[in-house]
Amino acid sequence: MSRIRLLDKEFEVYLDARTIQQRVQELAIQISADYMGTRPLFLSILNGSFLFTADLVRHLTIDPEISFIKLASYKGMRSTGRYTTAIGLDVDLLGRDVILLEDIVDTGNTLFQFLPHLQQQQPRSVRIATLLHKPEATQHPLTLDYLGFSIPNKFVVGYGLDYDGWGRQYDSIYQLVTE
Ligand code: IMP
Repeated sequence: MSRIRLLDKEFEVYLDARTIQQRVQELAIQISADYMGTRPLFLSILNGSFLFTADLVRHLTIDPEISFIKLASYKGMRSTGRYTTAIGLDVDLLGRDVILLEDIVDTGNTLFQFLPHLQQQQPRSVRIATLLHKPEATQHPLTLDYLGFSIPNKFVVGYGLDYDGWGRQYDSIYQLVTE
């Protein structure tokens, strides 16, 4: 399928399944080499990363631990700041090598706000692996240690990413058609 329609919007294929699979495999090989002899903890950020995680871990040649979290952002009662906490984080991070798995880094707000909370648990190291990055949209200095694809600042769906709950199941990534 080169075009899909979701709700009121039209999308066209941007990264096909083969291209994605090949890149995900390359990332897995790179991560396996970097973490050889260790047992990193992959923290997969739901919902968007479920396919990326499933494909990536199947290409690893190391023995990982894999856990899934959801990030919730809320406003503090007494301050104007926003806080991001992890729901479902049931692994002790002390002394662990953590690799965060994200579907996409857009503004970077989510990860930028969450990283300090993660650091409080004193992991040995934290790295970020993201399938997609929109550099034009990112507003924070984040080091993306493992990056699948840099993409333009356009809305995308598929391969875990959704538009209002639609489109996560596709094995390709589609970009919004703007006429
Ligand atoms: P950030 O905090 O702005 O970096 O956004 C992170 C989250 O926003 C991602 O994990 C996605 O769930 C969602 N998001 C950002 N851009 C897109 C997109 O183009 N399509 C679908 N979801 C997106």
